[in-house]
Amino acid sequence: MIDHEGDLPPCNFVIFGATGNLAALKLLPALYRLELAGRLPEVLNFVAFGRRDYDDAGWRAYVSDLLVEKLQAGGEALARFVARFDYVRGDQDDPVAYERIKQTLAKPKLGVCSHVVFYLAIKPDDFPAVIKNLDKAGLSRPRGLHRIVVEKPFGTDIESARVLNELLHRHFEEKQIFRIDHYMGKETVQNLMVFRFANTLIEPLWNRNYIDHVQITVAEGVGIGSRADYYDKAGAMRDMLQNHLMQLLTLVAMEPPAALEADAIRDEKVKVLRCIRPISQRSVHAHAYRAQYKAGAVGGVLVPGYQDEPGVEANSVTETYVAAKFYIDNWRWRGVPFYLRTGKRLKEPMSMVALRLRHPPQQLFRETPLETLEPNWIVLSIQPNECMHMELHAKQPGLGMNTHMVRLNASYRGADDHPLDAYEALLLDVIEGDHTLFIRFDEVEWAWRVVDPILKYWTQERDYIQTYPAGSWGPPEANRLFDAEDTEWRNKI
Ligand code: BG6
Repeated sequence: MIDHEGDLPPCNFVIFGATGNLAALKLLPALYRLELAGRLPEVLNFVAFGRRDYDDAGWRAYVSDLLVEKLQAGGEALARFVARFDYVRGDQDDPVAYERIKQTLAKPKLGVCSHVVFYLAIKPDDFPAVIKNLDKAGLSRPRGLHRIVVEKPFGTDIESARVLNELLHRHFEEKQIFRIDHYMGKETVQNLMVFRFANTLIEPLWNRNYIDHVQITVAEGVGIGSRADYYDKAGAMRDMLQNHLMQLLTLVAMEPPAALEADAIRDEKVKVLRCIRPISQRSVHAHAYRAQYKAGAVGGVLVPGYQDEPGVEANSVTETYVAAKFYIDNWRWRGVPFYLRTGKRLKEPMSMVALRLRHPPQQLFRETPLETLEPNWIVLSIQPNECMHMELHAKQPGLGMNTHMVRLNASYRGADDHPLDAYEALLLDVIEGDHTLFIRFDEVEWAWRVVDPILKYWTQERDYIQTYPAGSWGPPEANRLFDAEDTEWRNKI
């Protein structure tokens, strides 16, 4: 992994879908924050490509307004940032538009750029046209030098993922391809490896002898916004669980890699996915649960139900909540359930990995006021706060045998620390050419293999979906996945 301290190489950076949702929400703010922190290469020119009718000046004004509104941007950094942009108007399907991109890239600018990054911040349906047209225009060459960044979801099932991958390989070499999953750029996610493998205290506990079960939660307060066009076809399983949550699962469960190198780490992640017990059609109900939000109040604000969101098909049965249980059939994890859940319009935004340890024997405390001892937890919080802690019993001071839970806090962020956010870190990796935090195709393939049986089963149940009120923690029926009666979802960090 790269520490990003040195100078980055000069480069050109073309954003497809520059006028879209992802660019406005994540990409442009992240690139601007890198500018602000002085982390962008001196020579870096952006080409924004979109269908909307901007000229260079109009586009720069749009970016400027967006960043002022979102990040209170201003001053020299903002001026420098917007000046890096050219705008090319065109249709992704039109080969002529790619000639215009080529001409823009050839314009004499600040300096000589050796490589170009093509960032596909577009709907997955549009990937093939852009990939083919880039190659047709000669923009994928020199082979090995230029880079293409592909957003998730990579395909909609195992077959389509393979087709997309073959298409990419027809036009680009593997070392040019960056399959991005922005969860891999999150600070806690990266810290998971350090927490596990750099602490003698932790690693001996991290297995079936001590861990009762693992919960991975990514709860969102937001709805689908203006993304119905994409989301209604995808649903929570394809949008979040197959990629973000599966990536978290692999990092929690993997064996120590031989080195902190891209392929060594990815080899271990793939081994985990390969060991996940396949879910047969008969057992889908015991392993997965889906639901959709109806109207409700999130944080005191009334919000419409999914069916009433603009662009959602009438009577859509797309899931906005999914919970699933997986078993990893290897020596470390045999018999330990991994419960994963994610949903939109839940009570509050909260993402974490929580490991519940086994119950301690009660015998010693039988004659005391303590009836049952709560189990210990190890919690790695990703959002809203990045922190880690362990919950342990300690005796309450005073007479009598009463205990309370104390937290051993291993939070690592000081008030003055401003670490890079997920997209910022990953964008620097792309510019630098480091694949460590990007997804190799076999990871994508194995992750599809795990969830495909569930998705297939759901396609046969197209006339009904359970609901949950927006602003709740999701449907209580999802508890049917639990193996043990004393298990419940952990809804607090
Ligand atoms: C994206 C999904 O990949 O991740 C969105 O497409 C989701 O639906 C988002 O809202 C969540 O990312 P984060 O970083 O806000 O947790």
